[in-house]
Amino acid sequence: MDIKRIREDFPILKDPDYIYFDNAATSQRPAAVLKAVEDFYRTTNANPLRGLYEWSIGATEAYEGAREKVASFLGAADASEIIFTRNTTEAINLVAYSWGLQNLGSGDEIAVTVMEHHSNLLPWQMVADKTGAQLVFMEPDEEGRLGDEQLDRITEKTRLVAVGMVSNVLGVSNPIGQIIARAHEKGALVLVDAAQGAPHHRIDVQKADMDFCAVSGHKMLAPFGIGALYVKKKILEQMPPFLLGGEMIEYVTRESATYAQLPHKFEAGTVNAAGAVGMAAAIDYLEEVGFDAIREQEKKLTRILYDGMKTMKHITLYGPSDPDKSSGIVTFNIEGCHPHDVASVMDSEKICIRAGHHCAQPLMQYLNVNATARASLYFYNTEEEAERFVEKLSLVRSWLGYQD
Ligand code: ALA
Repeated sequence: MDIKRIREDFPILKDPDYIYFDNAATSQRPAAVLKAVEDFYRTTNANPLRGLYEWSIGATEAYEGAREKVASFLGAADASEIIFTRNTTEAINLVAYSWGLQNLGSGDEIAVTVMEHHSNLLPWQMVADKTGAQLVFMEPDEEGRLGDEQLDRITEKTRLVAVGMVSNVLGVSNPIGQIIARAHEKGALVLVDAAQGAPHHRIDVQKADMDFCAVSGHKMLAPFGIGALYVKKKILEQMPPFLLGGEMIEYVTRESATYAQLPHKFEAGTVNAAGAVGMAAAIDYLEEVGFDAIREQEKKLTRILYDGMKTMKHITLYGPSDPDKSSGIVTFNIEGCHPHDVASVMDSEKICIRAGHHCAQPLMQYLNVNATARASLYFYNTEEEAERFVEKLSLVRSWLGYQD
């Protein structure tokens, strides 16, 4: 990987003093994505799917072309299985409101892990509350692994397993293949929250036999406000619309309406066409770099952080002991230092990390902490940045007044 050339593609990374290690919160955007969005507004902008004039037709083509691109990126059989959403949160809410409320009831179980981001937990709490279904939690070991005994919590009562592909705190990849095999054997469907997975790993929804898969564009180089939901067609065909309004209809009378064909039935109102075009450009960029190269760079950097941090006294690392098993996420605490103080000190050194509960409070409770600090890397980060991070981190305790 020619890291120097790659960094030139990202306008915001021009300042060599700044280290951006908050990629799990949102990624940076390459010029190609910014240009695709700007070109759309400069040359093609009109409301897609409505107008009968050239610009609107162009906007529709650009939007539907982006859908084809996302479908192929995720390995979907058909572009109509891809619903554009604002983000992963909206995608999971769509499944919860549309599929969950219709299909679950008393006696049914929804299996999740205690590692879930709130966006893959609160919608299921709502469904459980409204339908009488029960939430069942799988818990990781100290390395973030879900053992076989945890997968045994998927039983004949389970109707849905909703699981993150990669934990946004522990950085581990969950055993999605095993979970899907177990769930399908028991007659349950599987929703994969791939918000933290899609930026780092190739996904093939057909090969993996996923029933639902949700991604956010902004974590994989695309603009804010665009995400996608994949749903297997035979399931999607049975689902009622989530939001109601413009462009998701076939025919409306005063009292009733019939709905548009898939996928438009699930895309009420004016869509984020420019965001979708930006997402297509982001996918092109990721494909060009290649997931093998992305993973290699992330592993190299994660190893530098791990090696450096393991030599420091007073540090607790959360997640896998093998850095290669993390998707560039390094979560930690420094004894005696509040994570917010750690993040503030690092900010004073122009190093951006996240601190807090990371929208995963049940995991914080499970780990018996209120908060942690988190550095999250991506392929455009450099070895020099990783080394500088380690060096500055080693000084945090002394800057906060400790003698050792
Ligand atoms: N879900 C994002 C994170 O983990 C915002 O930081």
